[in-house]
Amino acid sequence: MHKDDKIKKIQRNNEDFERRYKIMKKTLVVLALAMTVALAGCGSKGASDKSDAIADGVLTVGTNAEFPPFEYVGDDGEPDGFDMALIKAIGEKMGVKVEVENMEFDSLVASIGSKIDVAIAGMTVTDERKNMVDFSDPYYEAVQYVIVPADSTIASASDLEGKTIGVQLGTTGDFIVEDIPDATASQYNKGVDAVNDLINGRVDAVIIDKNPAEVFAEKFGDDVKVIDGADFDFEAEEYAIAMPKGDEALVSAVNQALKDIKEDGTFDELVATYIEQN
Ligand code: ARG
Repeated sequence: MHKDDKIKKIQRNNEDFERRYKIMKKTLVVLALAMTVALAGCGSKGASDKSDAIADGVLTVGTNAEFPPFEYVGDDGEPDGFDMALIKAIGEKMGVKVEVENMEFDSLVASIGSKIDVAIAGMTVTDERKNMVDFSDPYYEAVQYVIVPADSTIASASDLEGKTIGVQLGTTGDFIVEDIPDATASQYNKGVDAVNDLINGRVDAVIIDKNPAEVFAEKFGDDVKVIDGADFDFEAEEYAIAMPKGDEALVSAVNQALKDIKEDGTFDELVATYIEQN
């Protein structure tokens, strides 16, 4: 190609590029505007896409009713407790029917999206679980507690080293024991069975969430004592509702309902009824 021709070609290419760049910029501005409008439009209703999970008008909720005061089997044989009342109130706000499935805690996360739509089970938000499910906004703050026999000398983190510690399988208490040097986890499907074995002398301590720890310990009165996890440097935890990964419509509908329930006083009533009474 002749030198002048080459220069012309480069100029043409440049002009071409500039033209396309301008078009692209315009398109981006239009897109950004469209998104703003779309987002503004869904303020209270959540994302405009429909959730598959609740397309049938039923929210199937998994729980593990072995965790008072959040969930336990009531006198009528049905799951009852704070979480059950909360999810029913959320379902009402969302205009869906709530059906509860009681199952092992350890199988809840894997069942979301198949056997159940969501799980509410005093479930702590963790990074590992976040790889598999999406969480609602947190609704309760918690921490692991330690239950020991009344005459136990266990009082701080180093005292737990080398001990046999009862936990509910697959819970954050279970995960904590993994990090305690030389400690052995005795895993139970029900937290209360761990406490029974503490009384029987089969484990040295039980690590379980604060509120259930207090409820279980009360059953055994003077035989046990509960120690705040802060004394063991356990980190604060947050409970949230677990949902299928990527169902943004469901997440925003649940969060909106939760927000409404907090604003209209229902949430505080449930706390007073189910948690503070205990
Ligand atoms: N918060 C702990 C966790 O997420 C324990 C939850 C146990 N809940 C239950 N319903 N049994 O691992």
